[in-house]
This record gives sequence, C-alpha cells and structure tokens, in this order.
Amino acid sequence: MREEENELVIEQIEIGPMANFTYVIGSRSTREVAIVDPAWDIDGLLRHLAERDYKLVAALATHYHPDHIGGGMRGHNIAGVAELLEKSPVKIYAHRHEADGVKKVTDISESDMVRVDSGDTLTIGVVEVEFLHTPGHTPGSQCFRIKNTLVSGDTLFINGCGRVDLPGSDPDEMYHSLQRLKSLPDDTLLLPGHNYSAVPNATLAESKGQNPYLAVKDIDTWRQMMG
Ligand SMILES: [Fe+2]
Repeated sequence: MREEENELVIEQIEIGPMANFTYVIGSRSTREVAIVDPAWDIDGLLRHLAERDYKLVAALATHYHPDHIGGGMRGHNIAGVAELLEKSPVKIYAHRHEADGVKKVTDISESDMVRVDSGDTLTIGVVEVEFLHTPGHTPGSQCFRIKNTLVSGDTLFINGCGRVDLPGSDPDEMYHSLQRLKSLPDDTLLLPGHNYSAVPNATLAESKGQNPYLAVKDIDTWRQMMG
C-alpha cells in the first residue's frame, strides 16, 4: 500500500467469505480513523484499531449491501454497522439516496446516520475525504477520494465493475459513473470493495489497461455489452 507523507493512514483488510475489503482511513499524527464498510468480524476490526492505538471517529458506507455493512443475507445475519455501534458509537456516513436502504438492511436509526451528498467532505484528523456519488450498482453507491486514492466500493473493480442486474441497479447510471471515474488522474490508486482481481489494488492507468468496462466509449455499446 502507498502511504503519502507518512500522515495518511490507509489500510486494506480482506474480510469475510465473499472477499470483501474493509478500509481503515485516517490521520497518523492524531490517530483518528474512519472505517469503510465494516462487516463480518467487528470484534476483529475493533481489536485491529485498538492494537494500533487508533480512535474510531466515523464509519463510511459505500452502499447498503449486507456483505459491506451487515444485515440479513440469504437467511444469515452478517455482523456490521449495528454491532459496531453497540461497541463503538460513531455516525454512519451514507449517501442520501442510500440512507433508507442502510436503515432497512441494518436496523440502525436515523440518529445513527449522516446523509451525505456528492462533493461533501469529512475531515478525519488532518486528512480530508471527499464523497463521490457513483450510482449504478445501487442508487446511492458512493466512492471516497482521499488525495490520489479512490475507495471505489462495488462501483469499480480493478478488472470489472459491480453488478447492475440487482434490485435498485441501473446499468445506464453505472456507465455514467464509470465515465466520471475514468476522468480522475491516471495515477489514482484504486481500492475496490472486493478482492476479485489478480492484484488487490492498482492505479487507474493500470485498470484502464485491462478493464473492459472502462474501455467502452459510448452508451449504445455499453447497452449491448450489458445485454
Ligand atoms: Fe454490492
């Protein structure tokens, strides 16, 4: 993992049986961190933070699917933000179009949440996180931009993109979201929501060289590709 100026903390943690990635993002000097998509092993994640003397100040949700934030899935309950709040009460930051889905899936209450919009920022210690709305996989999917790093959830994988055949998915929206992400600087480091590729992270330039979903140049071609 790239760490800039020794101040930025970004840790990529693979967790759970669905190859999810959770991220710890924050500020080395103040020890304040946020956790992205906490799920599966909340005790283990909190232990990880305690061992490093990190203070959890926020939880960020890329989208409302239970493998990312906990909740019921195929008859099983996955630990997630609800269990996190019981042990470490922080606000859950979700996009305003995703917030109702987050509440429904996890049973947390409105007062546990902060509804954010694209372009909003959150400062964690001395590190700024920008929220980018990237609908398509779900209506309120969002990515987090920290300097030249992009936590891309289930919108953009190194060698693919999130499914757009699920309830709430919208293939056309995914096309436009990917076009916007494509315009970020080529040296942007992509940190996806799952370990689905040969490497766990890559630059946008590297992804463009191998990701067929980033190569599509117009919406008609995209629609044919997505069936
Ligand atoms: Fe998802």
